Amino acid sequence: MIRTVEWHDGAVVLLDQRLLPWREVYRVYRSYPALARAIRQMVVRGAPAIGVTAAYGIALGMQPVRRGADTAFQRICAAFAGSRPTAVNLFWAIERMQRVYAAVRNRPLDEIKTRLLEEARAIHQEDIEANRKLGTYGAELLPNPVRILTHCNAGALATAGYGTALGIVRAAKELGKTVRVFATETRPFLQGARLTCWELLHDGITPTLITDNMAGDLMRRGEVDCVIVGADRIAANGDVANKIGTYSLAVLAKTHGIPFYVAAPISTVDFTCPSGAKIPIEQRSPEEVTHLAGKRIAPRGVQVLNPAFDVTPQRYVTAIVTERGVLRPPFASSLRALAFAGQARRIESVHPPKSVKAAVRLRAK
Ligand code: MRU
Repeated sequence: MIRTVEWHDGAVVLLDQRLLPWREVYRVYRSYPALARAIRQMVVRGAPAIGVTAAYGIALGMQPVRRGADTAFQRICAAFAGSRPTAVNLFWAIERMQRVYAAVRNRPLDEIKTRLLEEARAIHQEDIEANRKLGTYGAELLPNPVRILTHCNAGALATAGYGTALGIVRAAKELGKTVRVFATETRPFLQGARLTCWELLHDGITPTLITDNMAGDLMRRGEVDCVIVGADRIAANGDVANKIGTYSLAVLAKTHGIPFYVAAPISTVDFTCPSGAKIPIEQRSPEEVTHLAGKRIAPRGVQVLNPAFDVTPQRYVTAIVTERGVLRPPFASSLRALAFAGQARRIESVHPPKSVKAAVRLRAK
């Protein structure tokens, strides 16, 4: 499996995604400010992957602390919280680390450090397991053969491993389905062209690369059976923030009667965020738009917009595939039920639901 982020020998090791597909370089981080910078600079990216990285980063930052643990812990958490604003998995991971710290903060420092590292490892492992489960649930939804269009990179590179949208692709292959993947290029950072294509080829799946503006024509010609994307934050009403361009694909999919699936672990759901209007959208540097592979492609003096994400209103989403089952509209009810459902149970939507209770049927796995 592709190793995106790892704890190794007292350090955090990241596969530098800025250099893919040209070079496979692993960078070793021994200080937390450098690791927080690596998240900002997209050495590692993808919502679950940055959550796992921040968790390891907090454990890493606490290693040299000898006194003033409370102050140090808060400073380290703040550094990661300030790295990227949209993916809620980052804040979810920080909060998990904060809960562990609060529980052991009066214990000896060595014990605190051990517990924090254990928690980071648990977050890492749970993400892989969540992806495998949601991959299986998603794969069951797909016809055979199936032609999937995906955007950005929601694969092993964007998670602790296996992937969300690409996890469904992998699981469908494992089920013996014949899968064709259209990968959008994903301007401006080219996560589709560089990362999704690299990752799928690495696993022996040959993707078909398209530029972002080819998607509509492909759908109109009946060459796409479904769209599957990941998410950076899902609001409590089911609105989905994901890589810029996702909204356009969702509108196109609806126009052409094509299912639009969002694949995400529950750590991507922000139950405190009522709707997409409240999701903070990261604005990135103009150079990502004016330059391509380090070369200027636009004249000097232009104005540039570069929002890294957009919000897809829930009405465009056919289903949200999580590790606890497939959620169907209305998402306000199915997500609420998810928040209250016991762990380790699969949720199965019943539609059209009449109430929160009727919205889900809990079935012991
Ligand atoms: O800016 P990025 O590359 O971090 O954006 C990543 C995405 O938008 C992914 O689709 C999302 O994080 C889901 S990853 C499983």
